[in-house]
Amino acid sequence: MPSLENDYDTDPGRWRAWRPPVDVHQQIAPELRGPVLDGGCGEGRLASALPDGVAWVGCDRSAAQLAANPYGPVVRADLAALPFAQGCVAEVTQLWCLYHLEDPESAVAEAWRVLRPGGRYYACCAARTSDPELVPEGYPPTTFDAEEAAEIVGRVFARLEVERWDRPFFPLRSTEEVRSYCRQHRLDPKRAEGVRLPLWLTKRGVLVRAVKD
Ligand SMILES: C[S@@+](CC[C@H](N)C(=O)[O-])C[C@H]1O[C@@H](n2cnc3c(N)ncnc32)[C@H](O)[C@@H]1O
Repeated sequence: MPSLENDYDTDPGRWRAWRPPVDVHQQIAPELRGPVLDGGCGEGRLASALPDGVAWVGCDRSAAQLAANPYGPVVRADLAALPFAQGCVAEVTQLWCLYHLEDPESAVAEAWRVLRPGGRYYACCAARTSDPELVPEGYPPTTFDAEEAAEIVGRVFARLEVERWDRPFFPLRSTEEVRSYCRQHRLDPKRAEGVRLPLWLTKRGVLVRAVKD
């Protein structure tokens, strides 16, 4: 299956069209002690949720995302070829990004390499069956969906913990917001027409935590 198009430099408005009121960033931030390498850091949503004093470094290949990221230090690099020494960080996160890689396992392996022994790894993604109220036919498959994420991470890390979600978290309150949601999720905005408001979408996805032995 194909990876999801990387359009962060060519169409930065697509990603910025909508922002969830709650996200995995707030959930895992209190677990992080640092130094944390935030792979595919984007505009710094994880950094914005970290407690004071946690050392953070961001890595992303998009110039536009890094330019909009007020946190530092950041490095422009590919997740599959990290410019970091072996065993130099305590935590690596790869949140909402591995579906952009043709070979996500190569990025997971890079995360393993740069982690210290005992270091912790985090990745998350949505399921193809997420948002059934808006996408009853399911999202097109990518290289890293919740259906296979744990298996892919498990080819690199021996110790995994898999947390799945399958429930509504927040409502979309207006047709305009549903349109913005569609834009961010690469859906035809016509899907927003006629939906009953508020729209509670059933979010399905996975957070995979792993430890480097
Ligand atoms: C959906 S955004 C998520 C950003 C951030 N992790 C978050 O949760 O807010 C995906 C990010 O992954 C980055 N990305 C995609 N493929 C990448 C790669 N091969 N190497 C580094 N960054 C990549 C994109 O540039 C983008 O900033």
